Amino acid sequence: MELTRSRGPLRGSLDVPGDKSVSHRAVMFGALAEGTTEITHFLEGADCLSTISCFRQMGIPIERTPSSILVRGKGLRGLAAPAGDLDAGNSGTTVRLLSGILAGQSFASVLTGDASIRRRPMRRVMDPLRAMGARIRDLEGNGCAPLAIEGTALHAADWDSRIASAQVKSCVLLAGLYADGPVSFTEPALSRDHTERMLQSFGASLTREGTRVTIEPAPRLEGQKIYVPGDISSAAYFIAAALLVPGSQVLLRRVGINPTRDGMLRVLRAMGADIRLENETVLCGEPCADLLVTAGPLKATEIGGDIIPALIDELPVLAVLAAFAEGTTVIRDAAELKVKESDRIAVMTDGLRRMGADVQATEDGMIITGGKPLHGAVIDPAADHRAAMSFAVAALAAGGTTTITDEQCVAISYPTFFADLSSLSGGQI
Ligand code: S3P
Repeated sequence: MELTRSRGPLRGSLDVPGDKSVSHRAVMFGALAEGTTEITHFLEGADCLSTISCFRQMGIPIERTPSSILVRGKGLRGLAAPAGDLDAGNSGTTVRLLSGILAGQSFASVLTGDASIRRRPMRRVMDPLRAMGARIRDLEGNGCAPLAIEGTALHAADWDSRIASAQVKSCVLLAGLYADGPVSFTEPALSRDHTERMLQSFGASLTREGTRVTIEPAPRLEGQKIYVPGDISSAAYFIAAALLVPGSQVLLRRVGINPTRDGMLRVLRAMGADIRLENETVLCGEPCADLLVTAGPLKATEIGGDIIPALIDELPVLAVLAAFAEGTTVIRDAAELKVKESDRIAVMTDGLRRMGADVQATEDGMIITGGKPLHGAVIDPAADHRAAMSFAVAALAAGGTTTITDEQCVAISYPTFFADLSSLSGGQI
């Protein structure tokens, strides 16, 4: 895919696709509930389709209507042993959350995925699950998938996590549905809390004290109607593009602004961005708003500490914005970036440097001095959807032509990304 500097401002409004994290959870919890769960504005990205296919393999009927996904739940004990390995594709959320569910079943299963998934760390879920009595093994002994899980009786536990990860937290809470007593999970900073919010709406009992959450074993969950808010992690690319391309103004409708996900908005305001929230509301327990974004200059900032989990997936595009901001932006406390779909510190540093930016990788982040004019380059996003979309934004504000190889990887979370970008730029892209 070849992209050049935007010839005119981005204008118009957009309904970004449904939130990836919320879409995964709606399918999973729907499968474990009694009755039908109807999901509207579901994200039909490759990752969420991997979750659907895993549950279909375990005997859960999942239908598609023109406007929704219907999950015919079979209850907490209703999953059937899959005939073959469960394939999570590129999806970390699928592997990690599913491992918690599978640990409490009465059958054995093997959970695997693509080359990227088979490199990502899984000890972070194996350790707490084992503390609950789970039988889970990494078949290659390297702390990664494929994971062999022999369902068994699970016990109460109180796990103190070293990392703030919603995937690990959700894995433990889901295993907690099957435990013989309460299961608590404490994290160093609050990670996204969609699991807690949605499980409660399905009938589970959870309590929170600071960053410690406790779940009681659930007798049953009840199917729900779920509206999935627009994904702030997808909106992020249009927020960034609208800020960078002079004269732009874009309205992004019904975007999720859950306080555990809105870190990018907080950081951008500190950078001087003009982002207004309109029509604030709560849909299915998730705060949402329309975001009106107007182009304008940005100044550098420091990003670190407890805000990191609330913007972890937006750091690649924030790095792009920092390259256009005045001054030096420091991103720290974000070593988790190295174990995402790619090593995002390495991939973003390398690509931005190729485009002429002043970027330095650190152990836990990046130091970016903005203001050098960027130029087109050939960029390999390392099969990472968020890197590909971040460089597409950089290309709109850089001189010359940028070639993004393997751009179809955006389908992981945003299959219509380039069409939507084109619609906001009057079809020029
Ligand atoms: C997710 C949690 C985050 C995030 C990922 C989705 C989730 O990962 O990066 O894209 O849906 O729970 P970690 O839990 O590894 O931080």
